[in-house]
Amino acid sequence: MLPKRSDFPDDFVFGAATSAYQIEGHRAGGAGPTHWDSFAATPGNVAHAEDGARACDHYHRWPQDLDLLAGAGFDVYRFSTSWARVMPEGRGAVNAEGLDFYDRLVDGMLERGLKPALTLYHWELPAALADLGGWRNRDSADWFADYTQVVAARLGDRIWSAAPINEPWCVGWMGHFLGLHAPGLRDIRATARAMHHVLLAHGRAIQAMRAAGLGNLGAVCNFEYALPADDTAAAARAAARHDACFNQFFVSALFRGEYPAEALEGLARHLPQGWQDDFTTIQAPLDWLGVNYYTCKRIAPAPGPWPALTERPGPLPKTATGWEICPEGLHHFLTRIARDYTGALPLYITENGMAAPDVLHAGTVTDTDRIAYFRAHLAQSLRAIAEGVPLRGYMAWSLLDNYEWALGYEKRFGLVHVDFETLQRTPKASYHAWAQALKG
Ligand code: FCB
Repeated sequence: MLPKRSDFPDDFVFGAATSAYQIEGHRAGGAGPTHWDSFAATPGNVAHAEDGARACDHYHRWPQDLDLLAGAGFDVYRFSTSWARVMPEGRGAVNAEGLDFYDRLVDGMLERGLKPALTLYHWELPAALADLGGWRNRDSADWFADYTQVVAARLGDRIWSAAPINEPWCVGWMGHFLGLHAPGLRDIRATARAMHHVLLAHGRAIQAMRAAGLGNLGAVCNFEYALPADDTAAAARAAARHDACFNQFFVSALFRGEYPAEALEGLARHLPQGWQDDFTTIQAPLDWLGVNYYTCKRIAPAPGPWPALTERPGPLPKTATGWEICPEGLHHFLTRIARDYTGALPLYITENGMAAPDVLHAGTVTDTDRIAYFRAHLAQSLRAIAEGVPLRGYMAWSLLDNYEWALGYEKRFGLVHVDFETLQRTPKASYHAWAQALKG
């Protein structure tokens, strides 16, 4: 059992989230190639070299998927538009079929009473822009603002909320420092530039959407509870560095107009010239902040250059992706973000969920581990609300099993099971648990 809708404040909204490249089937409908397609086609980057060419075929099956959302009683659908589907080259020509698809999708949400929560970038950069340096290139902010304008002009009259960029840490650090996501670089200068330009692009997109008359605009950041791997001072310092680069960097820029000192220690000399002057744009006023939370990490010092840290396995039970289940971390961030950065600004949990070793048996998946995960994190949400945190909604990741980036199709996060051969959808026990909870 999950906590019930009536346990939450009256205006609290519940939703489920997906993203374009992870579900749509990128090869359909005239979309251009993206840096994820080339990343996945490069041996060693993605489990089984899988890509999003077919994914869940949501591009054709979206009515059924929206029915599933509405059928569970969700209020909100957090989805993303794919830049390369709207503009195959990233700039210039618009793919009318792509925009029409999102137009129908948004209408489909409204017909079913679902609030459309739009994200404009969930990681699939058009390959033509990657060729020009992608997020390393300062012009990326202009390209992104232009694309945002095109989407806003078409969908802006009907969407409930919009956020420019999903998880800027993943775009900047995972893609350019760890090399675990597209474009797969391991380069500190590229990282510093990408992290800054992504924020600049965010600010430019917010300005473009305000100018187009859109409201309820936010940012979506991810947070990972950084715990010292042991009780040494060196481990505490390493955890603080990780926390600065991961958890503080983006909210500090958005809400304080500065980067944390511990992050600047390593990044300052790699940032583009004049970066200090961009905070006016980066700090374009927001209506809410989205918090994506999954896990904690145990951080230990490591030899070598800054940031000189590494991860150690922790003692808590783990999900199928090996992530420790640490619900207290969600409470930690909700209270800390409200206290240190956002004050009275509404917060939403925009992603939370787990990969489980699901087995489809006799027409169902008994994912009690996933239900327990949701229950524990909803309990921490209620705890934060009781302490005065202005948390206004919770969105589960994810509606469907889907393309889990570098992990391919193996790791399943869905409330609904997808058979990637037949593409058949089967609601799991967790889906039914949500449907029950949202009734009353
Ligand atoms: C988040 C991503 C989402 C999905 C989940 C598991 O970081 O936003 O696309 O991969 O993790």
